[in-house]
Amino acid sequence: MQKYAQSLGNRRLRGNHHIRELVAQTHVSVKEMIQPLFVVEGIAEREAIPGLTGTYRDTPKTLLKQVEADLKAGVEKFLFFAIPANDKKSLHDFDHTFLQSQIRALKKQFGDAIWLACDVCLCSSTNHGHCGVLNDVMDHVLNPDSTRALAQMALACAQAGADCVAPSDMMDGRVRAIRDILDDHDLSQTVLMSYSAKFGGAFYGPFRVACDSAPDKKMKLQDRKTYQLSYRRADDAFICSHRDAEEGADILMVKPIIHYLDIARELTSEIRLPFAAYYVSGEHAMVESSAAAGLINGPAAHVEAWHAIKRAGVTIIITYGARYAREWLEEYAA
Ligand code: PBG
Repeated sequence: MQKYAQSLGNRRLRGNHHIRELVAQTHVSVKEMIQPLFVVEGIAEREAIPGLTGTYRDTPKTLLKQVEADLKAGVEKFLFFAIPANDKKSLHDFDHTFLQSQIRALKKQFGDAIWLACDVCLCSSTNHGHCGVLNDVMDHVLNPDSTRALAQMALACAQAGADCVAPSDMMDGRVRAIRDILDDHDLSQTVLMSYSAKFGGAFYGPFRVACDSAPDKKMKLQDRKTYQLSYRRADDAFICSHRDAEEGADILMVKPIIHYLDIARELTSEIRLPFAAYYVSGEHAMVESSAAAGLINGPAAHVEAWHAIKRAGVTIIITYGARYAREWLEEYAA
């Protein structure tokens, strides 16, 4: 035994890409990825999103073209965000006509060739950028009013043909409210993917530009700390994930993911539901900007991040790089 002790690290298993492939324990595939899509009401041309190379604020026209291209690249699952025009934003009367029209257009053109999850949150629909309905003096998010409005939004998505609704607001009890309203409308087949362990923090910057949803800095309530989880209290990720599972979520989520892999590992070991991870805009942009500065190889770094997510036990990866995954995995995951 002693004679072989030094070779136990076993470089023979890393000798070339064939043997590395044979012994690999972690596999990433575009089939388990979800690509976010943004469509914006009332813009004339599609706009690039700083930090998210290859992801756009699409117009209704370019959206359909984009999905056509994505299907060719092997991407079939999407997370959909529709951003209403500024004059449609409101304090509490939310208009989901644009959102519904865009879901219908996608489903009309692509039908079941695509699987469409719709993000359910009010932050793009409110004129202050918070994820729910505020009290009169606007220093507090009202939980019951918000869950009611979120359930209405989820219903609008499901009625327009969404395959999945994905509440990302972090109000308490919204999973049950959504499940109830869907059941009441004979929409019990709609999948519910809950952002159950969503932490507040510094990694959502590019997304808020894309969605025009940063909380208004002139308000007393300047950030989302009263509803998104605190990274100093990991237990809430467990409490909220168990609660959402109990309330009828089909899929749970950890978000962001790269600084939360410990939590993903523990949650996926503890709860036997499928988990998604959202490799969020700030995480993606960190890699992109380092790559743009010539410091790292961007695609290789994304591929490495995706594997780390899988190693933590997560099934589904929501990533802005899904549309490049086939190409990048082929080149770097060997
Ligand atoms: C909802 C929501 C957020 C993201 C998706 N839905 C976060 C936020 O603005 O607080 C973040 C996604 C990303 O950063 O890629 N509000």
